[in-house]
Amino acid sequence: MVIRSLGLADFRNYPRLELELGEGVHFFYGSNGQGKTNLLEALYLLTHLRSYRTQRLRPLIREESVAAKIKGKVFTRGVDHKVELELFGQAKRVLLDQKPLSLSSEYIQRFFSILFAPDQLSHFKETPAERRSFFDRALCLLEPGYFGRLKEYERIKAQKNQLLRDKKFKELGLWNEFMAQAIPPLVEARQALTGEINQRLEGYFQAFSKAKGPLHLGYKPDLDFLDPQEVSKELQEKRPQEETQGFCGTGPHKDNYLMTMGPKRDRFNFSQGEYRTAFLALLFSLNQIFAERLDYRPLLLLDDLFSELDPEVSRSLVKEIEGLKNQVFITTTEVPHSFADRGIRYRVNQGLVTFAGN
Ligand SMILES: Nc1ncnc2c1ncn2[C@@H]1O[C@H](COP(=O)(O)OP(=O)(O)O)[C@@H](O)[C@H]1O
Ligand SMILES: [Mg+2]
Repeated sequence: MVIRSLGLADFRNYPRLELELGEGVHFFYGSNGQGKTNLLEALYLLTHLRSYRTQRLRPLIREESVAAKIKGKVFTRGVDHKVELELFGQAKRVLLDQKPLSLSSEYIQRFFSILFAPDQLSHFKETPAERRSFFDRALCLLEPGYFGRLKEYERIKAQKNQLLRDKKFKELGLWNEFMAQAIPPLVEARQALTGEINQRLEGYFQAFSKAKGPLHLGYKPDLDFLDPQEVSKELQEKRPQEETQGFCGTGPHKDNYLMTMGPKRDRFNFSQGEYRTAFLALLFSLNQIFAERLDYRPLLLLDDLFSELDPEVSRSLVKEIEGLKNQVFITTTEVPHSFADRGIRYRVNQGLVTFAGN
């Protein structure tokens, strides 16, 4: 996928911006507080239709303005699209090829970016829900039926929650049966993706850091069964507890992922640097899976990349990035020497973006 152009109106600190973009590696460089991350955020919004920095829309709209617009010409899965996002007050409108977007599945199966950013990294590290949604979003693209199955599970869970809240326990058995059918395919897909990532994870981790591995991604399903009958039995056992607490307390919405290096567990024992490098290895593994399985190359959005990493890791990463066919956007205070005559460079200064060579 390639963003051919980006247009902004009253987004963050940009009154107006029109940028033509090429393929390959792009740098947005400049001092702090100039609007580099805002640009990556806009690109992320074009692919994920939400920000990774805030859930509210107001911060995205330029102060003193009432509405913001983000436009992009996007080439993905062999087709050119026009995407427009309008934000006003609390409302968001998405136009895909000049028509209001009706099905989010249409979008989710075509647009994707892989993001490395300090804010998002800490969300990923601290919140299981963020990790689940990260892998789910990838699975929606990789497995054609996954989005539908996940929505179906969520519909069943919502219904169960309603019954539990209203204490209509008689109908629970039936909904637990629906749930027992819906759960195994989700667990199986999550397990399979984790396995595919693990085939690549250690290789990238070693290439970036030569650190002591082996790095491993663990997936811990809350209900660890692939047979609907066993899931059903387990749900029946948990039923009294759910009836007491009044909500649905078990299922794939409680699954967890964690990375380990031998006895070291990511959140507790990895150093900051190890966690960042491990996360990058995870992102690159996923990127390779997209390329190999779907011949699909998501955008790579790498925020403040070099300030976050040891020089040695940065150098290895640069080498790896040069070998990719993705469209890549990197923000940095300075373009490293090793990249000096490669990539397309833009200088960002107080909401102005100027071409600075390629
Ligand atoms: N809604 C907004 N309206 C106007 N300016 C904003 C808005 N949101 C953020 N900014 C400004 O954007 C700048 C930060 O941009 P950012 O892209 O995070 O900087 P950096 O270049 O360091 O990555 C700050 O000067 C901030 O005041
Ligand atoms: Mg920044």
